Amino acid sequence: MAKVLSAIQPSGDLHLGNYLGAVRQWVASQEKNESYFFIVDLHALTLEISPEQLRQNTINTAMYLLACGIDPQKCTFFAQSHVSEHTTLTWLLECTASYGELLRMTQFKDKGKGQESVRASLLTYPVLMAADILLYDIDFVPVGDDQRQHLELTRNLATRFNNKYGETFVVPEAKIPDLGARVMDLQTPTAKMSKSTATPLGTVGILDKPSDIEKKIKKAVTDSSMSIVYDRINHPGVSNLLEILGAVSMEKPENLAEQFSNYGQLKQATAEAVIEELLPIQERYYEMVQNKDHVISMLQLGARKAGNVAKHTLKRAQKAIGLLENPN
Ligand code: AMP
Ligand code: TRP
Repeated sequence: MAKVLSAIQPSGDLHLGNYLGAVRQWVASQEKNESYFFIVDLHALTLEISPEQLRQNTINTAMYLLACGIDPQKCTFFAQSHVSEHTTLTWLLECTASYGELLRMTQFKDKGKGQESVRASLLTYPVLMAADILLYDIDFVPVGDDQRQHLELTRNLATRFNNKYGETFVVPEAKIPDLGARVMDLQTPTAKMSKSTATPLGTVGILDKPSDIEKKIKKAVTDSSMSIVYDRINHPGVSNLLEILGAVSMEKPENLAEQFSNYGQLKQATAEAVIEELLPIQERYYEMVQNKDHVISMLQLGARKAGNVAKHTLKRAQKAIGLLENPN
């Protein structure tokens, strides 16, 4: 059985990009692989966030994932900070990474831009991410296209550590979905849909009301040519809608392009398909809100399962690098 792992930041509401680019793949993966899915609450601390906000976001994200179909009986589901091996291994990997390679990460450059003060942890963010993955001897990491560079760094660190200190880590591979890997903002289709987007009309939230989903998709920016072609470079707006519809309905965007003769039809079909996909998720989410204690206890159970795996890998790495055996 292959080992699969992925994680998400607890930063506000989940959107259609997170769902199509990542979480939907996770739900399918837990059926056939040994899977680990978790909420990276420590990564959220790389940017300004209040304690109350962090607590709320973490619980809400857990509920989102469960509502989308993550099943703690079928995978290991937990909060990153509950498994202290993640931060302990990070130090060893920081001693493997170079300052220069971390400076080159595009996410660091993007998120650090324009900030008065940049947290040191924003620079070392991808090293914590590498530790997240390497602790579990993972084969595949399903993520959206934006995480490609971080995965490459993880592979480099694992290989470098293995070459220097002997075989210790499994070198993981990124698994980027064919469709939905890069859901774009509906108003600015050249930028990816994101939680921090400047245009609320451009992002479809998982909990958006059907009428809002319809409104946002109908107002999506298309182009002036009026033709329906799948061409992300020259027709980014229409292509984004074709991709969203394709990802939801499991059809090729090229084929879908031939089925519509005007933008109105395409938007109507896309809105209907997205609403149908999200409604059952919304129902499950609102049921869970009544029972947050149960959600927390599931996370705690998952942390114990994860810790039992992580501690062995950490020991292996500590021994390889020359630390004396920890008596605890
Ligand atoms: P984040 O919200 O940045 O923690 O991302 C969680 C997961 O969703 C990661 O695997 C991302 O690659 C994926 N993701 C985020 N935004 C998008 C998007 N616009 N399209 C596709 N995947 C995305
Ligand atoms: N950096 C990822 C994101 O922003 C989140 C993440 C942290 C992650 N650790 C991970 C993803 C480990 C996959 C595996 O989306």
